[in-house]
Amino acid sequence: MPLAWNVPMLAAMKAYRARLLRFADDGSALFDDDGLLVTGPGPAGRAVVLAAGSYAATAPAFPGVPVEHLPGRILAPGFIDLHLHYPQTDVIGSPADGLLPWLEHYTFPHEARFADAAYAADVARFFLDELARHGVTTALTFATSHPASVDALFTEAQRRGLRLITGKVLQDRHSPDGVRDQTEQSLIDTEALIRRWHGVDRLGYAITPRFAPSCTEAQLLGAGELAARHPDVWIQSHVAENLDEVRWARELFPASRSYLAVYDDHGLMRDRAVYAHCIHFDDHDRALMRDTGTAAAVSPTSNLFLGSGFFDYAGAERVGFRFGLASDVGGGTSFSPFHTMLAAYTVGREGRTKPGLSLSPQQLWWQHTAGAARALGLEGVVGNLAPGCEADYLVLDPAATPLLARRTAAARSLDELLFALIVLGDDRVVARTVIST
Ligand code: GUN
Ligand code: ZN
Repeated sequence: MPLAWNVPMLAAMKAYRARLLRFADDGSALFDDDGLLVTGPGPAGRAVVLAAGSYAATAPAFPGVPVEHLPGRILAPGFIDLHLHYPQTDVIGSPADGLLPWLEHYTFPHEARFADAAYAADVARFFLDELARHGVTTALTFATSHPASVDALFTEAQRRGLRLITGKVLQDRHSPDGVRDQTEQSLIDTEALIRRWHGVDRLGYAITPRFAPSCTEAQLLGAGELAARHPDVWIQSHVAENLDEVRWARELFPASRSYLAVYDDHGLMRDRAVYAHCIHFDDHDRALMRDTGTAAAVSPTSNLFLGSGFFDYAGAERVGFRFGLASDVGGGTSFSPFHTMLAAYTVGREGRTKPGLSLSPQQLWWQHTAGAARALGLEGVVGNLAPGCEADYLVLDPAATPLLARRTAAARSLDELLFALIVLGDDRVVARTVIST
């Protein structure tokens, strides 16, 4: 018996017929060669996925809903970038002899400019345009230590209806004038920003210690107290990226068992905590990630560019903690999830004990969509095209370039199709980015 829709509901519903990519709970891809995606108003008034599946099985339940037919195109969930820095949009491609000189010579001087709210607003607009062009619909991003940089990004993200998480960077030591903040004021500012922005529309706040070496004990303790008072805000930082950084952190916090343990010792590891890099870990660190529900943001283009090392996928899978993919712009070299997935594939070979391949294309894509949503505690909210998910999705063109057209036409399986897109794809593949409104 077809459901009958009232007129306003019908007017707000949209249906697209195309190839359809989504994910099962176990992370495997579900693919319909002739699929239907139906979106319409959800409980919060914004568009959610009402149905997704094969055209033949899904269409009869939606009589009267106009269908846009997109032959050859692929409907896919919007990508999630688990870690990047919007103020480093203009730092991409600044070469340095490792992380610490890169911070000193390029990143800190540039971030000092974000004390200027008008400058921050201009970069925020460009940054969000760039995410959309590349098909990234949700991001967990650093701002700078200036509260105005947070206001600028949230204001623009709210205007666009985005699900976006950011926070004011905490760095009250080992940082130059212009970006260094003051312990007490930094915590007051953080709490005010949480109250102003967290949970407003689709925005979320992340408590953001830059990394342990840039924070005094008092600042980290204060951040941990804020985290305890606001259990549903996110936490983001960096850890174990570079060997010089690891040595420095160990010297500064000799009482902690490891660099990672510094964060645990200050109440900064839990669900909704996301740490970038997580390269130089031992199995105690991996178990600490797992046992606290903390997630890793794996940033392969950044790790290659700054010569930081290789994320140990085999170790992460063996111990079993959450991780997903991230661009880490501007240490990272591209906003493109396709470039990030390709770099992850390349470095995923490292340290593999099992014979055979690196990560599969389905695993890579999952780590940048539904898996990244799981790492953020937003499973079933974004990152997939399951009923009830917010309707952030992409229309992909697998024939966006002559070579892509030729290569994807020859693909004989879903894995071959996804591999061709990962290896050859970039922003040209993203024909349309749709944000739930
Ligand atoms: N560690 C502390 N700050 C940063 C940063 O801005 N980028 C990277 N990649 N690592 C960091
Ligand atoms: Zn980073």
